[in-house]
Amino acid sequence: MIAIESVSRHVADLDAAASFYEALGFARGEARPWGAGGADQALWNTGDREWRGLTMSLPSGVSERQFPLRLREYRGGPRHVWNTLDAWSVGSGHMGLCVEDPYQTWNALANAGELRAQTRGGGPIPMPDEFRAEGERHVERPFATFRDPDGLVIEIQPPRRAHPATPNWVELGDERAGVSHLNLNVPNMAGAQKFFEAIGVEFPEGPFESFAHPWLGNVMGTPPEDGEWTIVYARLPEADGDGAMFSLELIEYHALDVERGYANALLSDANVTMITLRTPSLDDVMADAVAAGGTVYTPGGAVALDGASRAVVLRAPGPTRSSSSASSQASLRQPAGGDSPHRSSRSPSGASRRCAGPCGAPFGVAIRDTVACCDEASSCCIGNMLIGSCWGEGGAQWCSLMARLRRAITRSTWCVRTWQASSILSCPTRIRCSRRCEQRRPSSMTPEHGAWFVTRHEDVLKIYRDLETFSNADIYPTRVPIPCVIAEKVGADYRFPTDKHLNTMDEPEHTRVRKIMTKVFSARRVREREPEVRALANQLVDGFVNGGTVDLLGRYTSPIPTGVVAMLLGTTQEVGRKFRGWVENIFTLTGQLDLPEEEAIKHWNGLIECESWARDLIADHRKRPRDDFTSFMIEAESDDGSPSLSDDEILQQVLSVLLAGSDTSSVAIAETVYRLLAVPERWLAVVDNPALIPAAIEEGMRLASPVRGLHRFVTRDVELGGVLVPAGSDVYFMHSSANRDASVFADPDAFDLERSEMREHLSLGTGARFCLGAPLARLEARVAIETLVERLPDLRLAPDQGELEYEINMIVPILRALEVEWTPSSPA
Ligand code: HEM
Repeated sequence: MIAIESVSRHVADLDAAASFYEALGFARGEARPWGAGGADQALWNTGDREWRGLTMSLPSGVSERQFPLRLREYRGGPRHVWNTLDAWSVGSGHMGLCVEDPYQTWNALANAGELRAQTRGGGPIPMPDEFRAEGERHVERPFATFRDPDGLVIEIQPPRRAHPATPNWVELGDERAGVSHLNLNVPNMAGAQKFFEAIGVEFPEGPFESFAHPWLGNVMGTPPEDGEWTIVYARLPEADGDGAMFSLELIEYHALDVERGYANALLSDANVTMITLRTPSLDDVMADAVAAGGTVYTPGGAVALDGASRAVVLRAPGPTRSSSSASSQASLRQPAGGDSPHRSSRSPSGASRRCAGPCGAPFGVAIRDTVACCDEASSCCIGNMLIGSCWGEGGAQWCSLMARLRRAITRSTWCVRTWQASSILSCPTRIRCSRRCEQRRPSSMTPEHGAWFVTRHEDVLKIYRDLETFSNADIYPTRVPIPCVIAEKVGADYRFPTDKHLNTMDEPEHTRVRKIMTKVFSARRVREREPEVRALANQLVDGFVNGGTVDLLGRYTSPIPTGVVAMLLGTTQEVGRKFRGWVENIFTLTGQLDLPEEEAIKHWNGLIECESWARDLIADHRKRPRDDFTSFMIEAESDDGSPSLSDDEILQQVLSVLLAGSDTSSVAIAETVYRLLAVPERWLAVVDNPALIPAAIEEGMRLASPVRGLHRFVTRDVELGGVLVPAGSDVYFMHSSANRDASVFADPDAFDLERSEMREHLSLGTGARFCLGAPLARLEARVAIETLVERLPDLRLAPDQGELEYEINMIVPILRALEVEWTPSSPA
């Protein structure tokens, strides 16, 4: 027999939460000062983080005992404050209190400055007539709702009587003042019933009725267009309550977006509510809960709170119809690799959990086997290795992209290729790549291991900030093996140099080299380049201005950054025109997979040509030094007068600037222009007021995310978004998703030139790895758009220019074209 022992709230600020509950009438009890460890720490699986706690209590509404409310605050680790979510999100809920005089409670809260009215009308609402007319379900009484400081709704009403006429009601005794019930919003009532019944909670007879609840919707502050709900009152005994039964109210709310919610909540996040259930037979209950679809958060999911009793924390089973909530079930799950020791030791119930999407595959299967269903079925199965939810324009489109990326990455991330024995034998050079990766990543060398996809802004920030755990070293080897004809030409050991680019170095090398390069990219030096960039932009417009139509990408947005990089490196514009092709070669071989042999040969040849050009460039600069990046790299000296950079490092920085500064800027300019032209009034607004251009560029960069995502190698076990990512993993974090994370960007898909959080986008990275070329990229984009506005004010999208089309690539997708037109001032 289980019994409810207490309710726990994890809060953002313990003092604030305690003041609120005190004003509501709760008494302060045992306090626990800041510190790490303890049974609770293990129970909530919060690692070494510090926490403090306070137990508060109010009499139970059904038994003689004091009902404990345990408040906890964490610090020092990843934590999300979910106080902006509506009270009807899945995972959210409310707590019901009976109070002798609701008006008095209302006033007490107001006097204490703690009143956060939830009602739409802003005051306690007497029971309206329509409710009685509708079905005599309740007696007339004042009823109001508040939010606690972290967002939990508290419902107050006078002591009530059980009302058998209420649908889906389990008959209870009269309730006294005190804690009366706890509500949980569930995505699927049938699943919730299965789960709770399995652990011993008593349910009324089904089938359950659904009904509209406009009045209650108003009190709860749900949107006016609310639909039907199913409310079920289940019950379970109170611990030490002499058999008194406590109400567990479950609501499935049909109209609201069940995909919102605490999908990825950590147990330590603020505004997470938990029920602690006491059971004499923990193992049995745990087994039953898991069999009924429950999620186990901690090893065994339980911990003894004292010698006599045991507490379990169980969550309701995950949703069966919400894809993002599918990742909620995944949130503390181990990687999908079948042989991972982490999985077996820390996820005992893994085998019984299944994908909540249509494929229903058990978690832990090789992703390869389930990816097919992802193409059709939203984010089904992506939850296997997805940290966060997939944000972005058109969920299905994104999920399909994710699925494609996923399939690609599964096939060959880090040489995790399903090599055919015959091809290995026929072309020995192909083995090389595998061997190198094996040495580096022994733990992730199975086809079942792909990369962890990291999608949330908060988690991406964490990766950027933790340089030790998330390593950049040598993360972009070419993934397409060297074709035999190329190997014959350059040798079996040929390797395009990408291991010492600034963004593939770890500390301390990274800081040493970055310091040197920073001088070339300083704001002053970038400003000095503005006249050259403007001259280049005008020269390019001169080349097509009379035509009335052009592929702006090929003739303008791409030649500007490549031209600037050519100037920077000290080569001619003619050579600069080759950059786009070279960059495409490199991005294709590092970010795309499964190329046909002919394509692979073409791209490998491009790499070889590019490297050989860079070597010649450096040799030429040694002979004839100039005032440019290349000479600066060559001449940089350490304190003792020796060259700061080795020959290989100079070569690689030349290549890294070429790579980092070409297509990225081109896409940023093209996407911004496209989004301005897509809504003609937007373009006209910018023509009228070019001061809007910088904001347009930031929004263009945010929405387009020219660098879609990046990889890191995980050097030690780390928790990321509630997922334990083992050392040796590959994480792929998506700017494209983080930049549309609704918890950071209001109305994230909107192109909004006035958004206050505009600069929060991560398109240019952040922290120690913030894009070194960012001032230059912003300058190029500004000058490019200013020039268009000035020279072609009536610019518009060509009639056949639909959505921008990209060659899918995990790092920098290659944009195909941007067709525009205008009315030439003189005939072509
Ligand atoms: C809109 C255009 C651009 C975008 C979206 C962009 C994006 C990024 C991002 C996301 C990073 C972080 C890489 C990582 O952490 O692994 C980065 C780094 C870098 N970017 Fe850019 N970039 C742009 C333009 C440029 C330009 C024009 C240059 C130079 C000509 C440049 C040079 C670099 C360099 C050298 C790094 C490495 C910084 C480091 O690791 O310390 N970027 N860029």
